[in-house]
Amino acid sequence: MQIKGSVALVTGGASGIGEAVVKHLVRNGAKVVVVDVEQKNIDRVVNDIKEIGGEVIGVQADVTSEADTARFIDATLTSFGQLNVAVTCAGIIRDGTMLSMDKQTGKVAKKLEFEKWKSVIDVDLTGTFLTLRDAAEAMANGGQDGLLVPISSVNKVGQLGQLNYSSAKAAIELMPKIIVGEFLLRGIRNIRCVGIAPGYTETAMLTRMNQEALKAILADVHIGRLIKPEEIADMIGYCMTNTALDATTIEITGGLCYPRGVAK
Ligand SMILES: NC(=O)c1ccc[n+]([C@@H]2O[C@H](COP(=O)([O-])OP(=O)(O)OC[C@H]3O[C@@H](n4cnc5c(N)ncnc54)[C@H](O)[C@@H]3O)[C@@H](O)[C@H]2O)c1
Repeated sequence: MQIKGSVALVTGGASGIGEAVVKHLVRNGAKVVVVDVEQKNIDRVVNDIKEIGGEVIGVQADVTSEADTARFIDATLTSFGQLNVAVTCAGIIRDGTMLSMDKQTGKVAKKLEFEKWKSVIDVDLTGTFLTLRDAAEAMANGGQDGLLVPISSVNKVGQLGQLNYSSAKAAIELMPKIIVGEFLLRGIRNIRCVGIAPGYTETAMLTRMNQEALKAILADVHIGRLIKPEEIADMIGYCMTNTALDATTIEITGGLCYPRGVAK
């Protein structure tokens, strides 16, 4: 599979890792579809790409909606005639421990809000499922080479304060094995699935995290810095061209070793 001439769809493509993936693939000759909820950011990324002469469309959509998913797959096929790569970067965090105690009374003062649980499961897990399912349908019917790239996280191992997020990302880590196994069962040979589990990466998502906790985590990162979104994008480009990669999830963490502070 070559990047040049391929058609890529990136959810959450208007910010952070998704934006870096979009720009990396365009620079290497792909046509791209930028899917995001944030219209202003879609416009910015689409303009950036047009300035360098890239072929791009932007589609405002919510990945939790089945109707929206069908709409952005349709828009891809209408504009570019096929789909080769789908990268599911749309994601959110809503952190908090399941229970918080009142120090004075020793009783439960607060529970993780249902809305915090549900919104993360909806966007991160259900959104990934809907995008992969409908992208795979387009690839299976189109018959061209395809690659599905679900984005998990290093926090799939179980990060404190992220019961919702870690649960979603652990489930996403399993997807490549199950999906490719099913493809084998159903005689679908043209679509691979390779997940990516990034470590702590320099994007807007981290600015919404507890900054003290982030500082402590960075002390456990071997390379001593955050991952750059471009480093994740580069790996996704590599996954396109190395067709032996399949049915697995690759970690890119800069050597995050978690000697403390994680439930395993
Ligand atoms: N930044 C990190 O350290 C890190 C680490 C591991 C995994 N990840 C994962 O990488 C992916 C990208 O994260 P990021 O750091 O670039 O964050 P980001 O906040 O910069 O980008 C996420 C994008 O998703 C979009 N989005 C949110 N909800 C959406 C919805 N319902 N429908 C469509 N788009 C929606 C946002 O508008 C945003 O543009 C996420 O899945 C995240 O969980 C990030």
